[in-house]
Amino acid sequence: MTKIMFVCHGNICRSPMAEFVLKDMVEKAGLSDEFFISSCATSTEEIYGGVGNHVYPPARRELAKHGLSCDGKRAVQIKPSDYDKYDLLVAMDSNNIRNLSRMLGEDKQNKIKKLMSFTDRGGDVADPWYTGDFELTYRDIVDGCKGLLEYLMKNSIT
Ligand code: 4NP
Repeated sequence: MTKIMFVCHGNICRSPMAEFVLKDMVEKAGLSDEFFISSCATSTEEIYGGVGNHVYPPARRELAKHGLSCDGKRAVQIKPSDYDKYDLLVAMDSNNIRNLSRMLGEDKQNKIKKLMSFTDRGGDVADPWYTGDFELTYRDIVDGCKGLLEYLMKNSIT
């Protein structure tokens, strides 16, 4: 069983999109039983009184355009114990990496990665909070998740 945690700032746009895109890819590959996939925030920006917000409506609509549902997903913040629980913590941008390092300390087991590092172009997933372009974010996430899945198969992490 490979456990993947996607991480972004608020856990209402990019990381839940990645969570449901990768869940769909592994399901289509007949590998659902081999994976545990989740997502979380570095911040508490989208969590009020311990209850997280739903996925941001434009992100939900972008997923729905591609036949994906994220019903029931609510924002949660990363916990220190997630470092041991998951095999990989896959962040959306360099800010997330900085925040994770601050919160979790040294990445002794080399588990913290950036999603776009699994593509040829690298860099950050386009942040729709600033661009307003959820389609562009979706395309980055699909490319990143394809690369991530190839990496996992090649390195037989499962
Ligand atoms: P996400 O988007 O990190 O992709 O979920 C954001 C959500 C909330 C905020 C920023 C980005 N915020 O500042 O509240």
